[in-house]
Amino acid sequence: MRFGYFNDEEREYVITQPDTPLPWINYLGMNDYIGLISNTAGGYSFYQDARLRRLTRYRYNNVPLDMGGRYLYLRDNQSGEFWSPTWMPTRHDLEDYRCRHGMGYTIINSVYRGLRGEVRYFVPLGQSLEVWDLTVENLTDEVRELSAFSSVEFCLWDALDDATNFQRNLNTAEVEVAGSVIFHKTEYRERRDHFAFFACSEPLAGFETQRESFLGPYQGWENPRAVEEDVCSNSLTVGGSPVGVHHFRFTLQPGEKKRVIFLLGYHENPVDEKFSPPGSQTLNKRGVRPIIDKYLNPEVVDQAFEVLRKSWDDVLGVLQVDTPNEHVNRMVNIWTAYQCMVTFNLSRSASYFESGIGRGMGFRDSNQDLLGFVQMVPDRARGRILDLAATQLEDGGAHHQYQPLTKRGNDAIGSNFNDDPVWLVLSVAAYLKETDDWEILEELVPYENKPGTETSLLAHLERALQYIQDNLGPHGLPLIGRADWNDCLNLNTFSDKPGESFQTTINQDGKVAESVVIAALFTMGAKELAQIMAHVGREEDAIHYQNLSDDMAGTTQLFGWDDYWFLRAYDHFGNAVGSHSCAEGKIFVEPQGLCTMAGIGLEDDMAKGALDAVERYLACEHGVMLLQPPYSQYYLHLGEISSYPPGYKENASVFCHTNPWVMIAETILGRGDKALDYYLRINPSNREELSDLHRCEPYVYAQMIAGKDADRPGEAKNSWLTGTAAWNFVAITQWILGIRPDYDGLRIAPVLPEEWKDFRAARKYRGVTYDIEVVREGGGNDVSLMVDGNSIEGTLIPKVDKERVTVKAIIR
Ligand code: BGC
Ligand code: NOJ
Repeated sequence: MRFGYFNDEEREYVITQPDTPLPWINYLGMNDYIGLISNTAGGYSFYQDARLRRLTRYRYNNVPLDMGGRYLYLRDNQSGEFWSPTWMPTRHDLEDYRCRHGMGYTIINSVYRGLRGEVRYFVPLGQSLEVWDLTVENLTDEVRELSAFSSVEFCLWDALDDATNFQRNLNTAEVEVAGSVIFHKTEYRERRDHFAFFACSEPLAGFETQRESFLGPYQGWENPRAVEEDVCSNSLTVGGSPVGVHHFRFTLQPGEKKRVIFLLGYHENPVDEKFSPPGSQTLNKRGVRPIIDKYLNPEVVDQAFEVLRKSWDDVLGVLQVDTPNEHVNRMVNIWTAYQCMVTFNLSRSASYFESGIGRGMGFRDSNQDLLGFVQMVPDRARGRILDLAATQLEDGGAHHQYQPLTKRGNDAIGSNFNDDPVWLVLSVAAYLKETDDWEILEELVPYENKPGTETSLLAHLERALQYIQDNLGPHGLPLIGRADWNDCLNLNTFSDKPGESFQTTINQDGKVAESVVIAALFTMGAKELAQIMAHVGREEDAIHYQNLSDDMAGTTQLFGWDDYWFLRAYDHFGNAVGSHSCAEGKIFVEPQGLCTMAGIGLEDDMAKGALDAVERYLACEHGVMLLQPPYSQYYLHLGEISSYPPGYKENASVFCHTNPWVMIAETILGRGDKALDYYLRINPSNREELSDLHRCEPYVYAQMIAGKDADRPGEAKNSWLTGTAAWNFVAITQWILGIRPDYDGLRIAPVLPEEWKDFRAARKYRGVTYDIEVVREGGGNDVSLMVDGNSIEGTLIPKVDKERVTVKAIIR
């Protein structure tokens, strides 16, 4: 069952029913100011950091679902009836409800009792504010006497404190109101130099800033007292829970429309100009006033919206494909690229499953997010790489997370996730392959943000790999530390105390448990570094790293192979994990995909055997499961992985992030049919008709889809912020379609399903637009390339001095 449809022309998903299985959300703002918005206008906003600079409050996992957001109320002053044009919070039976989620904007439209209400929400590029652009239209033959109310609930900035420290925070709130602008200035009297504003283009009949005055005691957002009575009390809250509510009345003639702009924004004042007049406690509004005046103008709003729309032409214009499969086209051209932008922006911090107060920017996560983002805005990727490298430790290890506002490593989580450092090598490699910007390697970057510790970025990469070499176990495989890519495989934790963190508790010295996944990553990383060294003329180092890579591959073949597939790990006792000899968890997906990608066991059919085993034991209709059979009980020596019921999360769900590794591995073996088959199993658009089962948004990937052993196989959870986006983008575009940036140019090496006869693509790369046509003339994967009509050797297009090039690839 579907709850809407894709409009590819407009790059929108149109939701036609407000009560979707879960709130289906979108993101407003792609830089400093960011908002989450659901299909019924739920959600919240923040500046840069969802924990430390939260503008509006949100209660996660609330009942009714998704209560709290950017709500507007329309009131018929003749009948006294009121409703919300976005369905929530009043939940009236709306006619013609439509929510259009687009690139950085959401438009919700509905009709009720002959009145159309449409709200367009977006963040103008480069601004720290969001626009709510309301149009109300009278579709009847009668004159209508109406009221409108807006509402937001402010957060007292630190979202964790806001949700927990009531003995203090119920005494801190402060506001100011000037004309139609409500200013939220809690803690501005002391150390904050920032405030929020909520403006309205209409003169007001009244306002509220105190939640209880607006809602009435023991009343909720569905029936606020002020809306019931059509009168605001002009409350000025001191302490308590601050809200922003505007109220105005208006008349609509038959057919008449009224447009009103609301702005919710964030502003910082210079520290010595916080107050005006100086010495008072009155907010200095001189800096913000011109911004408010500008964006309250509907023409400016329309222009800003156009600029936003156009900016996506550029971003998405980097790669557009036209293949025989609409789900491929839609996801590559629009939604997966968009999701890559969002994961790049937020890592794993703020979604409807990540509360914004838990995790900051993950080191491993953000490096992987770059893989799918780097082609869109290379400059921002560059900045991110340098930020990440600056949180590396001097021994080459890495802080597992950092807080976006401070960019400092999170000490509470610490380091010793032993896969972390390698991901930096892989993201830098991807950056170089895209941009040719070799100068980045010479950037001086500190360790742990400590001044005086700076080395070149290239030296950071060397230390990253040195860290792995310094932490090898009994078989010569990398020690796992707290965990590797799989945060829940905690082989040194041995936790028997409820609530203890699986990831940061260590009860073993960690000198035995080893990871085949890190071995594969190291093999890949060292190979990349070898190529990088060769490129910068350090031939001996190139040989050295290639040797390290080869040695690790050899060690993996010797000790990481289990007769039928790659082993997952050795535990604290030196016993194999992910082996046919195990009672449960006999086979894991990660090493099968990653070892093949690293080129381990390609010659002697190990890789082929491993991928055949994946198909046989791990593939199910909803995708490839992480392991089989699931752990039926908690194992002290395995940790969090066995904490989940079978079929969920790391315990044998379809953990989507790992699926593209299998797809890529299949292309390396030349099996395009299998690669595309796996791709389509988890492709959100291809699962759209299962929306009632899948439950999450059909336009973005979720972290996991419950596996075959789960209570509800096929049910997805944790949508939006997952490395699945970046890796799937890489798998489909670079390996199946085969349009793959390399150090010395663009490579065209598709591994297509047999039934595909052809496809086209346009790729902007290093200043050149490549118009690519791929035609299948035989059943294999051999590629013959013609560039501007001339045949060339191999699959790499050499550097050209033109702005546009046509490429024809014949596949035989
Ligand atoms: C989740 C993992 C996540 C980890 C770290 C675990 O509970 O299952 O997916 O990576 O927490 O936050
Ligand atoms: C989610 C985390 O964000 C990611 O870093 C990790 O690799 C996966 N979970 C698997 O545990």
